[in-house]
Amino acid sequence: MKGIILAGGYGSRLYPITLGTSKQLLPVYDKPMIYYPLSMLMFAGIREILLISTPEDLPNYRRLFGEGKDLGLSFQYLEQPNPGGLAEAFIYGKEFIQNSPVCLILGDNIFFGTGLPDKLNRAARIADGAVIFAYPVRDPERYGVVEFDENYCVVSLEEKPKKPRSNYAVPGIYFYDNQVCEVAKSITRSHRGELEITDLNNEYRKMGKLHVEVLGRGVAWLDAGTPESLLQASSFVQAVEERQGLMIACVEEIAYRMGFIDKIQLRKLANKISGNHYGAYLKEVINENEQR
Ligand code: DAU
Repeated sequence: MKGIILAGGYGSRLYPITLGTSKQLLPVYDKPMIYYPLSMLMFAGIREILLISTPEDLPNYRRLFGEGKDLGLSFQYLEQPNPGGLAEAFIYGKEFIQNSPVCLILGDNIFFGTGLPDKLNRAARIADGAVIFAYPVRDPERYGVVEFDENYCVVSLEEKPKKPRSNYAVPGIYFYDNQVCEVAKSITRSHRGELEITDLNNEYRKMGKLHVEVLGRGVAWLDAGTPESLLQASSFVQAVEERQGLMIACVEEIAYRMGFIDKIQLRKLANKISGNHYGAYLKEVINENEQR
């Protein structure tokens, strides 16, 4: 399976912060926001990644990740000239995807919790159809909303409905089979001029091929798109990391634990970031005994 991180858009809810930089490069406590969705792809075992962003911001992502080799990954980059909708990822990304199943994750979605890597691994095995997730929220009208029956069959799926039929929002991570580019070609632009991910998912639903997995209480799904939520996300990460002495979404550590890089490479990465707590943490990982 391949992965796409969508990291474009204007980030206008964060203006003036995002007038000079990409939202998904802003810090969430001790690392760039994009590390969090990247770590999700890595947990799913995905190593071939396409990063889509604006023409202005793409050079900064290249500077951050290069070809991805340092992390045992392979990165490609693509411009999205205007934010024309999430499903454009499968129009612009067609050449990258070729005939592979693919996972799309939004560059501003942050997840943390028990059992996530297992759920991601299971979803990444999808050979026919699509997998979306459902997460209970207080304000479902702000999101894609999914309604399902007791057998987890999707009954309805709506984008930001005024009267939500359930309190389950659809987070910004989606797994598709190798038909996704064809299906994306068949949808038309919405009234706001976008190729909507919800329309794409509804096509899969109509084919009876849309699977939904619930992310329950043990999982935190955070949004970092407003000044308040950005601060909350940082505080959350800080609280957990300080308490446990373990990092969330430390991509260098994940690359090592997933076997994408060896200890020698991890040491090289740690040496690059020496002199702060992040580098010190990587050194701890290198020196750890069997306890962790
Ligand atoms: O966060 C989950 C939600 O994401 C889902 O529940 C919704 O169904 C889905 O439509 C989306 O809703 P948003 O209102 O959050 O979408 P937004 O337009 O804000 O875009 C989400 C991120 O994707 C944002 O950080 C910018 C980026 N983006 C967006 C568009 C439309 C792009 O990179 N390119 C785009 O064309």
